[in-house]
Amino acid sequence: MRTHYCGLINESLIGQTVTLCGWVNKVRLQAHVAFVDLRDHEGLAQVVIERDNAAAFAIAGEIGNEYCLRVTGTLRQRVSVNDKLKTGTVELLADTVEVLNAAKDLPFAMHENPNEEMRLTYRYLDLRRPEMQQMMRKRIKLVQALRRYLDERGFQDVETPILTKATPEGARDYLVPSRVHPGQFYALPQSPQLFKQILMMAGFDRYYQIARCFRDEDLRADRQPEFTQLDLEFAFVEEKDVQDFVEELIRHVFREVQGVELDAAFPRMTWAEAMRRFGSDKPDLRIALELIDIADAVKHVEFKVFAEPANDAGGRVAALRVPGGSTLTRKEIDQLSEYVTRYGAKGLAWLRIDDLAKGREGINSPVAKFLDDTALTNVLKATGAQSGDMLFFGAGSWKTVTDFMGALRLKVAKDRGLVEDSWKPLWVSDFPMFEYDDEAQRYVALHHPFTAPKVDDIGDLRANAATAVSRGYDMVLNGNEIGGGSIRIHRPEMQSAVFELLGIGAAEAEMKFGFLLKALKFGAPPHGGLAFGIDRIAALMAGTESIRDVIAFPKTTSAQDLMTDAPSMVSDAQLKELHVRVAADPIS
Ligand code: AMO
Ligand code: AMP
Repeated sequence: MRTHYCGLINESLIGQTVTLCGWVNKVRLQAHVAFVDLRDHEGLAQVVIERDNAAAFAIAGEIGNEYCLRVTGTLRQRVSVNDKLKTGTVELLADTVEVLNAAKDLPFAMHENPNEEMRLTYRYLDLRRPEMQQMMRKRIKLVQALRRYLDERGFQDVETPILTKATPEGARDYLVPSRVHPGQFYALPQSPQLFKQILMMAGFDRYYQIARCFRDEDLRADRQPEFTQLDLEFAFVEEKDVQDFVEELIRHVFREVQGVELDAAFPRMTWAEAMRRFGSDKPDLRIALELIDIADAVKHVEFKVFAEPANDAGGRVAALRVPGGSTLTRKEIDQLSEYVTRYGAKGLAWLRIDDLAKGREGINSPVAKFLDDTALTNVLKATGAQSGDMLFFGAGSWKTVTDFMGALRLKVAKDRGLVEDSWKPLWVSDFPMFEYDDEAQRYVALHHPFTAPKVDDIGDLRANAATAVSRGYDMVLNGNEIGGGSIRIHRPEMQSAVFELLGIGAAEAEMKFGFLLKALKFGAPPHGGLAFGIDRIAALMAGTESIRDVIAFPKTTSAQDLMTDAPSMVSDAQLKELHVRVAADPIS
C-alpha cells in the first residue's frame, strides 16, 4: 500500500514518487493550498495539496484529525524548513489523496493532555499519540534485550500454567470456576513461583519466562491486577550467584535500551539498615536526607511524646534534618503534618534553626520548651543541624515512626527539588523471615513461604522465629522495588516447619502444597532465583510515574478495563454451566 513510512522520508528521495499511509495529525486549509501533517508510527510528514489538483483539494476540505489516508505524490525540498521535525526539510506534493477511513469527532484533543478515563476508554486513539508510542516501544525494546541476553546464556524459556492452583504471594487470588468439576476452582497464578522451583527439581538448571501474574490487591500507580514479570530461577546457587548474574543483566539492558551505565557494583544494604536510615525497605538513594535516631538524647525529658517511645524497646524517636528547610512556611509545615497522618502519625514536631550561634534564642519550635539544655544540645549535635535548617521529629512505635518519617523524607525531597537526577540501584537483603499480622494474629511470610531462612537448623528457627532473617533479596532502583527473589527452601522438613510457623497446619499444607512437599522428597537441588517487575522497569526507563503508561491495555485503579468494559455480567446459562449462583445481596 505504501512505499515509505511518513517519519522516514528524507532528502535522498527528492524527485521520487512516494506513497505514504497514515493519520491526519493536523490540516491547515488555505485559499490555494492545503497542508496535511500525516502521521504513522515513525513520525510526521508534511503533505502539500494544491488547489489545481481539484479532486485532492476537495478531499482536503473534508478531512479532519485522525482520518486515515493514503497519499501518492512527488517528494520535494521544503521552502521553509521545520527544524523541529525529523522530516522537516522535505514535503510530499500530492497527486492523489485517498481516504481509507473517516474519523468521527474525537472524544478528546490528541495534542492536549487528555484525562486518563478517556484515554483508557479510547485506548486505540491514546496509543496513537507519539508519546505513548515511544513509551510502549521502550518496553518492547526492554523485553527484547532481556530475552536476547538470557537466550544467549542458555536459559530455558518454559511456559507455566495460567489455570492452576493458588500460588501465594500475599495477595488475593483470582479464581476461575471449573465447569467439569462442580464447586471447584482454578486460581490464576500470582507468580510462577512453584512451577519454576519444580523446573529446577526437574533438571532445567537455568529458567526464565516473561510471565503474566495475577493479584487481586489494592491498586496504585505501580500496581496492576495483572502484570508482567521476568521470572528467573537457577539450580545449585547461593545468593551471590543470583545477584551477580542479574545485576549484570540489569546493567546490560540499561546500557542497551537506555544508554545508561549503572554503578559497577550495586550497593548492598540490610533491611534493618534501610529502615533505620531511610524509613523504607526500598530506599531512594537519589535523596541525601537520612533519618537520625535521637532516643538517647530525649530519654530523660518530661515531654512524654518523646520520652515514652525513647524508653520503650518497641518505640522509636527519629529526626529528619532538612538543610535550608527554615524557609518552610507555617502553612507548608501544617501540610506536611497533615500528610504524615496518612501514615499513622499522631503529630509532627519540628524545630527551626534560624541562628545556631544564638542558642535557644535562635530557635523557633513548639517543642523546644519541652527539651532541656542537654537534650537540645544533644539533638542538635546528633543531627548536625546548621543555621537555616529545619528538623522534623517522629515519635511513637518503631513501625509507625519508620513509615511516616520515611514518607516525609520522600515528600520533602520531592517538594524541595532534593532528588538528584541519576540512577541509584541497590540490593536490600536480610529481611525478617516473618512479619506478625495483627489482624490475622499470626505470622505471615515477608517474601513468600518458600524463601529459605538463614539458619539451617529447624529447632533454631522455631526458637527464634520472631527475629529470624531470610535469604531473600530485593533489587531497588530510585525508590522502586524492581525485583525480588530468594534462595529457596529445598528440604521438605524445613518447608513443613516454615508452613507450621506460618500457621499452616499439616493437613492444610498437604492440601495446598502437597505436590511441592512431595517433589522436594526426590533429590531437589539447592536453588534460588528472582523476578523483575517488567512494567516497573519499563516505566522507569520511559520516565513515567505510572506503569499504566507502559501497558498497552491496563486496568483502572478499580481493576476495570474501560475499553472492553470488563469485568461484566454473564448470562444465566453460562453461570449455570459453571455451577455458580450470584448472591442477590452481599454475603455477610
Ligand atoms: P514479588 O512478589 O516481589 O516476587 O514480585 C516480583 C516483582 O514484580 C513486581 N510486581 C508488580 N508489578 C506490577 N503490579 C503488581 N501488582 C506487582 N506485584 C509485584 C515488582 C516485584 O519486585 N515469586 C517471587 C519472585 C521470586 O522469589 O523469584 C515474586 O513474585 O517489581
Ligand atoms: P501535643 O503535646 O500533642 O500538643 O504535641 C506537641 C507537639 O508534638 C506538636 O508539635 C505535635 O505535632 C508534636 N507531636 C505530637 N505527637 C507526636 C509524635 N508522635 N511524633 C512527633 N511529634 C509529635
